[in-house]
Amino acid sequence: MAGTTSSLGGGPAGSPSAGPRIGAGPMTKGNATSVVGMQWGDEGKGKLVDLLSAEHDVVVRYNGGANAGHSVVIDGQRYALHLIPAGILSKGTLAVIANGVVLDPEALLKELDTLRSRGVDTSGLVISANAHVVMPYHKDEDAAREDTLRSGAGESPLTEIGTTRRGIGPAYADKVQRAAAVRARDLLRPELLRARIAQACRFKAPVLGKEPDVEAMVATATAWGQRLAPMIRETTYLIHDQLRAGKRVLFEGANGTLLDVDHGTFPYVTGSSTGTAGIATGAGVPPTILTSAIGVMKAYSTRVGSGPMPTELSGGIAHRIRERGREYGTTTGRPRRVGWLDVVALRYAAMINGVTSLSVMLLDVLAGFETLKVCTAYRLGDGTTTDRFVADGAELAGATPSYTEMPGFMEEIGAARSLPALPKPARAYLDFIQEKVGVPIGFVSIGPDREQTIIVGT
Ligand code: IMP
Repeated sequence: MAGTTSSLGGGPAGSPSAGPRIGAGPMTKGNATSVVGMQWGDEGKGKLVDLLSAEHDVVVRYNGGANAGHSVVIDGQRYALHLIPAGILSKGTLAVIANGVVLDPEALLKELDTLRSRGVDTSGLVISANAHVVMPYHKDEDAAREDTLRSGAGESPLTEIGTTRRGIGPAYADKVQRAAAVRARDLLRPELLRARIAQACRFKAPVLGKEPDVEAMVATATAWGQRLAPMIRETTYLIHDQLRAGKRVLFEGANGTLLDVDHGTFPYVTGSSTGTAGIATGAGVPPTILTSAIGVMKAYSTRVGSGPMPTELSGGIAHRIRERGREYGTTTGRPRRVGWLDVVALRYAAMINGVTSLSVMLLDVLAGFETLKVCTAYRLGDGTTTDRFVADGAELAGATPSYTEMPGFMEEIGAARSLPALPKPARAYLDFIQEKVGVPIGFVSIGPDREQTIIVGT
């Protein structure tokens, strides 16, 4: 699906036709759009989903769990969402948590209470009966595994994954193991719920080194079920019915392509299919239905947790980007690792997701650097050079970046509302990105607020 383009807005960079289009017609084509992260998560998908929600009837989360962190600023107010689709912030939108998500009821209920206390209407939230539930023992197991890996560091080449410790991996593992998994629908079936939890506790005891308290857990899960019951329902037909009725559906990806369990930097990845392919299994919607895929990318790179990141920076440049970009995890508060842009990784992400347009986020953060570097190839451990991504943690760790250097821009750009208002080097940087990734840029974000978005084209 990826197209090619030579310059922004279909004309020379900064042509008047490339001005903002907010409120001047739909920003996406067709009725099934995906918003997918092209890096290691935290690309700013929440802001884009929030922006696009206004022209969509349904927003669907199809992967991940409370490990994700979407931070959205509306009228100066910051909302941090982990499980609830960012579309909930748009009035009248149906927000679906589909079967591919691992549902942490404790986190969800807390999020719901916070949103409600701030006056957000959450009545549009629907949870798939088939979504798997993250139980307290999943979080304990996640932590126990990470601690074991950490304690073995030095003797073993394996290091901790640096998970969010939200129980994501163990919950997906139990889904595949099947025998003792708990799904949202089980929260409403007391007998089955007790049996499943009791079974799971038998399996978990050796891993945790303790006997989990079955009765306490059944009581907690039953209480979750009582509160969530009105929201738990079948969602696969629901989404198809909406599509058939001509409604516009937005699929909101969580985490990022390079954290995909199959296509990311394994084993330093999350437990789900984070790309557009995850929509098929995670929402029951075939890939052929997608009419566009918006690839969301930062103007630089960030990563949280362990694993290779070829363009990683340290020292003053990293510090400046981290502080200007508020690069601290929405979920864990951890400082994010920061690096120059990596178009090798972006080209790969565009390819496997079928990205039809790019959304470049946080461009404003890069103001003030004399020179910007972009990685266009890797030199590998065996001395060869490649412009293809290496989807393996160990091999990518031996890659060093080949950079193209570009002039930076010194002035702040947060007030720009069109491409022509951007400094020339900033436009040249954007041009370079779309040329190298081979996909046109549709959106440029130059600050956290909804208004700080330049809509390039549809
Ligand atoms: P898990 O998803 O908690 O198992 O963590 C696995 C890896 O994915 C760790 O490196 C996490 O830091 C990373 N990760 C998971 N979700 C996100 C996200 O939404 N943004 C950034 N990193 C994430």
